[in-house]
Amino acid sequence: MKWIDSHAHLDDRAYEKDLAVVIARCTEADLGVMTIGASMRSSREAVRLASRYRRMWATVGVHPHNAKHVDAGTVHELRALAGNERVVGIGEIGLDYYRDLSPRDVQRTAFRQQLELAQDVELPVCLHNRESTDDLLAILRSVSATHRGVIHSFLGDIALATRFLELGFHLGVGGPITFPKNGPLRDAVRRIPLDRILLETDCPYLTPVPYRGRRNEPAYVQYVAEEIARLKGISIDAVAEQTLTTTKRLFGIEDGG
Ligand code: NI
Repeated sequence: MKWIDSHAHLDDRAYEKDLAVVIARCTEADLGVMTIGASMRSSREAVRLASRYRRMWATVGVHPHNAKHVDAGTVHELRALAGNERVVGIGEIGLDYYRDLSPRDVQRTAFRQQLELAQDVELPVCLHNRESTDDLLAILRSVSATHRGVIHSFLGDIALATRFLELGFHLGVGGPITFPKNGPLRDAVRRIPLDRILLETDCPYLTPVPYRGRRNEPAYVQYVAEEIARLKGISIDAVAEQTLTTTKRLFGIEDGG
């Protein structure tokens, strides 16, 4: 395994017709994939996929958009899924005050419950944060003093990056690093230590240039790595190698060759 996409949604309907082909392109690129749960349905599906493919791992959790569907049974089932050997994290969980698809107080409760679950089962978290940084940080601090995980699809500047890095988090960098408007993000990535960065696609969303506007897939992580390499003045191989090492260590992933 040469590199890993730390955030893909391979259960998405976008891959309904050709998932096997998409995964074959991962194999061809020597690319591992973490497929991320966003609802109970997709969490179950992520575990199923990760159990089927050798270089695939899963996280389970309910995205803030779906927080309104969290009930008493949800955390119970997530805990059971988390016991599967292919599950390496809890996520994607967090807050989203941009789209507000679930009421904010409901989002906060669901986030807190799943953070506590992650603490209990001793798994790192995969966090979603959109226009909700202050509440996100307040809840993180109230649940635990130590933090292990990734701020997925980090889009902020160096000041925000520093706040998360100081808490112990890693930052997930994906397709938006290639979008022309994201100068402050590029400046942040230039300055963040490489060993605190994870590669991701968030596919099928956030397709990098040159395929922007089309469906995203894990193999396009190479365009993200290419941009990080350019910003840092290092080789793509160096980016691939370090981000793979970091992701394996953070999520306890063991690659059998
Ligand atoms: Ni995602």
